[in-house]
Amino acid sequence: MTSHSLPVHVAIVMDGNGRWASKRFLPRLAGHHQGVESLKRCAKACDARGIRVLTVFAFSSENWSRPAEEVSGLMDLFAMALGREVSQMHQEGVRMHFVGDRSKLSDRVLREMEQATALTCNNTGLILNICFNYGGRWDIVQAVQSLIAKNLPATEKNLCAMMSLAHVPDPDLVIRTGGEQRISNFLLWQSAYAEFVFSEQLWPDFNEQELDKALQIFAKRQRRFGKISPQLNADGSLPLSS
Ligand code: FPP
Repeated sequence: MTSHSLPVHVAIVMDGNGRWASKRFLPRLAGHHQGVESLKRCAKACDARGIRVLTVFAFSSENWSRPAEEVSGLMDLFAMALGREVSQMHQEGVRMHFVGDRSKLSDRVLREMEQATALTCNNTGLILNICFNYGGRWDIVQAVQSLIAKNLPATEKNLCAMMSLAHVPDPDLVIRTGGEQRISNFLLWQSAYAEFVFSEQLWPDFNEQELDKALQIFAKRQRRFGKISPQLNADGSLPLSS
């Protein structure tokens, strides 16, 4: 693959955990547990392929309206999985960031997030952004509020600097598993020019082969960023001056 045909930043809506469990007559939480395994595998595979940033949607602003048992199960799983997996992630050189509204999260979850961030902050491998209690609309609103608080003019550049993923470039590729084809309030601002690939696989079944399929589809897309084909380089990349 030429360098521009590999995405720098991949973002994933990890959908289908509940259905994966139901198909096996297991409680929905078993699907979420398996989802953690799938995420570990995917992070490794992304790193191995030279992808620099992986951003995943782990809990949305709207997920609070699920049955209380599932919400508390997801919170427990999140804290437990972080506590259990973070040293391995650290060994693999992953730098972890947590993105989302922290105001409603428990002390336990916040503590695990802070420890994982502190432990991995100097790593130089894959940047893993975990969106937790995240919503694209929340992100835009908090960015606008920051502009107002700092008395800055509402320009695109200023707003970009206040968005919660300002530390990474916008996603090049957004993958959604589980067969649904919608954005569900994920990276509304940041995915303005992302390519979308929808996979029929349920998230726990998403493996290296499925990732490679998505990467192959991405590599064949012509990204024009509002331009027309003749304005692009022969290999489909943007001219340096643009
Ligand atoms: C969507 O599937 C998935 C979620 C709401 C949770 C995803 C969370 C994980 C994979 C665990 C993350 C943990 C860490 C430590 C980052 P769904 O429940 O909507 O599935 P369905 O559409 O089949 O019901």
